[in-house]
Amino acid sequence: MGLLDGHRGIVTGGGSGIGRATCRRMTEEGARVAVVDIDGDAAEAVAKELDGLAYPVDVTDYAGLERAVQDAASKLGGISLLFNNAGGSNLARVHEFSIEEWSRIVTLNLTGVFHGFKAAVPFMLEGGDGRIVSTASISGTRPSAGESPYSAAKAAAVALTANAALEYAPTIRVNAVSPGMIATALTAPLLEGFPDMVPHMTAKTPLARIGTPEDIADVVVFLWSDLARFITGQNLVVDGGMTLHGAGVDGVLDRVEDMLRVARDGG
Ligand SMILES: NC(=O)c1ccc[n+]([C@@H]2O[C@H](COP(=O)([O-])OP(=O)(O)OC[C@H]3O[C@@H](n4cnc5c(N)ncnc54)[C@H](O)[C@@H]3O)[C@@H](O)[C@H]2O)c1
Repeated sequence: MGLLDGHRGIVTGGGSGIGRATCRRMTEEGARVAVVDIDGDAAEAVAKELDGLAYPVDVTDYAGLERAVQDAASKLGGISLLFNNAGGSNLARVHEFSIEEWSRIVTLNLTGVFHGFKAAVPFMLEGGDGRIVSTASISGTRPSAGESPYSAAKAAAVALTANAALEYAPTIRVNAVSPGMIATALTAPLLEGFPDMVPHMTAKTPLARIGTPEDIADVVVFLWSDLARFITGQNLVVDGGMTLHGAGVDGVLDRVEDMLRVARDGG
């Protein structure tokens, strides 16, 4: 018996990385999947592997997403799961973002999530059961320099998660997941472009490795499943403990222990 037996779900950005890993895990757990991705070939490849449906759709185009969700609902016999996962960004200082680029990033990472809700919620209400997860980011909970529209949009997606959780309970549970540094096509330029980036990130992460797409997919499956039946409106940070760091007192324990060792052993 699978954790998601009988469920039917939409995964946006399902052609790659975290979305693709989630498509695979959810089907292992008994769900059927409709893969939505702006990259139609990638969506098609994942759908073919998993006996799912593929939709070449840009989540910023509401009419296209609505058509895909309606078609998937009619072919799968309803929609009970949604993973609002398509997203991405660019790096620049706040004032250096063009108006167009700011708008593109916010539209993709925030309005794209709203579009997912708007298209899928009616089917969940009609079916009497829904479980929604959206991909936020540690960039929303602990912003870094250079990612202002992305951080703002991801933080807003967490707020939207709470709004929707309140509005649709008890029929629909709504949660977010905030990945840390995960090895995907999105982060490859960073992780592969700078030779010291992997050891740097690993050293900053208490669980001492870069995350995998499966690390996030397992959490999405959990949040969708009945194991999480009393969880709604939450944002689960899945970052190996990376963002626990940052206070100025970091490393103080190591220094005190070293000092005591030197005092005891004489150096
Ligand atoms: N990888 C990380 O470290 C990390 C960390 C925090 C958050 N995230 C978030 O995780 C999500 C998935 O990213 P990933 O790391 O798996 O990247 P990825 O590049 O491997 O996958 C993203 C997928 O989304 C698709 N996509 C992009 N724009 C789209 C659009 N407008 N409409 C439909 N599909 C679109 C891409 O074609 C791609 O298949 C994103 O929301 C990203 O912001 C990733």
